Amino acid sequence: MNPTPVLPDGWTLVERDSVGSTNDEAGLLAEAGAPEGTFVWAREQTGGRGRRGRRWASPVGNLYCSTVLRPECSAQRAAELGFVAALAVADVVQDGRAVRVKWPNDVLVDGGKVAGILPESSIGQDGHVEHVVLGIGINVAFAPDLPEMRYTAAMLGGTVEAAIEGLTAGLARWLSEWRREGFAVIRAAWLERAGPLGLEVDVKLGEELVRGAFAGMDREGALLLETPAGPRRIVSGELLGRTA
Ligand code: BTN
Repeated sequence: MNPTPVLPDGWTLVERDSVGSTNDEAGLLAEAGAPEGTFVWAREQTGGRGRRGRRWASPVGNLYCSTVLRPECSAQRAAELGFVAALAVADVVQDGRAVRVKWPNDVLVDGGKVAGILPESSIGQDGHVEHVVLGIGINVAFAPDLPEMRYTAAMLGGTVEAAIEGLTAGLARWLSEWRREGFAVIRAAWLERAGPLGLEVDVKLGEELVRGAFAGMDREGALLLETPAGPRRIVSGELLGRTA
């Protein structure tokens, strides 16, 4: 049995064997008043959710967790927290392995997706963010091979408990940078870890497929592309391919 992970000061571990989705558990706790840093970890999920309505295979062995955040900001700014999470995940990867972030919130190791991030915000009637649940799944012990995945998957190795310690330390660090310096610092760090500018990528926008050269990410977190028809700014879409 591995030792219980140690979280940063002020964080609380909520440990479960099996839940539907840690995002739902953390959301319920947040609605009941749980403070920032409440970290829900389940050994398995029976209804793990991914982006765009996909499921997230969640058998025992990988990491499934959701953190309650209370960022006191607009919904637009809360969307920046997905990039904060991607940096924290990238920090967990051991030196010597090629780690890259992929817009908007994926992390790749040696070209395969090692983690998925699902931020969910609860917005009050005045448009203010009441809380954010930052859901993160990391392939620690194995890389699930699902037919609906259009990418290869990678795994981190090590133990789930070690991944939790590294991840929460990274989250605490990058959250405090975000609060102190704003998105500019997060954006700069994210761009350093992204694929090279000029790389050819495809982006799926609903039924439309846009091909262009990766031209970075703007100050609002939108993907920038140079296409044959001119520059495009993409707020929501799915980047196909593996590197940017
Ligand atoms: C993606 O599609 O890339 C995002 C996947 C997010 C999965 C994590 S696992 C922990 C948390 N609980 C969920 O149901 N989903 C997120």
